[in-house]
Amino acid sequence: MAASGEFDLTIRNGRISTASDTFHADIGIRNGVIAAVAQNLAPGREDIDASGRWVLPGGIDSHCHVEQLSGMGVMCADDFYSATVSAAFGGTTTIIPFAAQHRGNAIPEVVADYHRRAAEKAVIDYGFHLILSDPTEQALRHDLPQLIRDGVSSFKVYMTYDRLKLDDYQLLDVLEVADREGALVMVHAENNDMIRWIARRLVERGMTAPKYHAVAHDPIAESEATHRAVALARLMDVPLLIVHVAGLEAVRVIHSSQSLGLPILAESCPQYLFLTQDDLDRDGLEGAKYCCSPPPRDAASQQAVWDGLLDGTLQMYSSDHAPYRFDASGKLPKGDQTTFKDMANGVPGLELRMPLLFSEGVLTGRMTIERFVAVTSTNHARTYGLHPRKGTIAVGADADVAIWNPEREVRISAGMLHDQVGYTPYEGRTVRGWPEIVTSRGRVVVRDGDLRVERGSGQFLKRGTPEPVLRQRLNGNPNSIMRKFFSQDA
Ligand code: URP
Ligand code: ZN
Ligand code: ZN
Repeated sequence: MAASGEFDLTIRNGRISTASDTFHADIGIRNGVIAAVAQNLAPGREDIDASGRWVLPGGIDSHCHVEQLSGMGVMCADDFYSATVSAAFGGTTTIIPFAAQHRGNAIPEVVADYHRRAAEKAVIDYGFHLILSDPTEQALRHDLPQLIRDGVSSFKVYMTYDRLKLDDYQLLDVLEVADREGALVMVHAENNDMIRWIARRLVERGMTAPKYHAVAHDPIAESEATHRAVALARLMDVPLLIVHVAGLEAVRVIHSSQSLGLPILAESCPQYLFLTQDDLDRDGLEGAKYCCSPPPRDAASQQAVWDGLLDGTLQMYSSDHAPYRFDASGKLPKGDQTTFKDMANGVPGLELRMPLLFSEGVLTGRMTIERFVAVTSTNHARTYGLHPRKGTIAVGADADVAIWNPEREVRISAGMLHDQVGYTPYEGRTVRGWPEIVTSRGRVVVRDGDLRVERGSGQFLKRGTPEPVLRQRLNGNPNSIMRKFFSQDA
């Protein structure tokens, strides 16, 4: 048994779950790291009695937009302080937001700017993905390889949004660099021309209410682009991650590509489990609060996303927190004349991501607690090069822990949340289960409804090579067009 005072913090008598097991034990934390997981540890200098509580790895939200200019040129409502505080109150202890390159921006300067802003404000640990909108020779040959060495080992690319989209030729260029240098490509898969073509005709006919956003973003635009992105990755024989999967057909495309043995990964988000396109059809412009891309779809798609998260077709559940206020700064740039084409795309979700799934997935019996840990934390760490430091409860891992009270009922309202958005799409719902105490590297971040850490105390996480990329390297990419015909370059 450990001597009293050996640990800085102990969490005792809790029911611990990881992505693979559930057991009762104590956790001893020293210097920010888990030093022991065993029965009957002596109290540390600080002691938390977790009797009756579920002790889980802190969440990792690997898809969120913070202090970022969107694809439509709108600034997010949350900065690195409000976003990380909000995340922590919802049980998340690591975020991986985006450093967004807009065309003409030099990548090193873009990333340095995000570093400066996050270092000043974040209260929990963070990494970055790069949003790549301008794959110049300079970017492909120098900037991206350097960025990967600096720990930004994933890039998001867009197939839609005029200001961000890459064409298929450019996507192949990016996949080639990612393969050679060891990065993972994440793709926003929607067919830009289908969306533009439908949107124009809707607007010409005066069909401009928020509900028409879901008409313009037809599920076929999503499934076609998903299929095309998979084909491009297949040509290169490299892993690819499809983000924010919304539609049943897209889930099927992903599932069938995985059945062929292709290294395709996928993520979905609360809005595709808990909202539908009917939410966009609320009175007046209220539907703008539910407008994101891809949009929430019908009950069959909702079911397909649930099934995909449960059966492993989708490995990750992120928020895609894209915070815009319900005013001229975000959702309503033209006041009551705002059309679906003008409103900022995106919904908030950093704080409620985990409580919604804990309540509606785990406590209803739909999802095991181990799968919950996998899709909210462990799989993100593995996929993005943070494992085993983050995403699990094990000796040697950072002491990032969320202690959940499974009995606590919370009625959701915008006023209780810590973001700067001013509304929530989940207003008025009641969830059961809440993360009451949250630690990050052994520091108690949230307890008794209070924030207990300083602004700027979060740390940048230099990420390693993503596991899907390592796996593919072991396998040697035998079907890659590069290996087959251009082996001297590969
Ligand atoms: O509507 C969304 N999802 N907005 C955020 C930007 C993105 O594409 O993820
Ligand atoms: Zn996206
Ligand atoms: Zn996003």
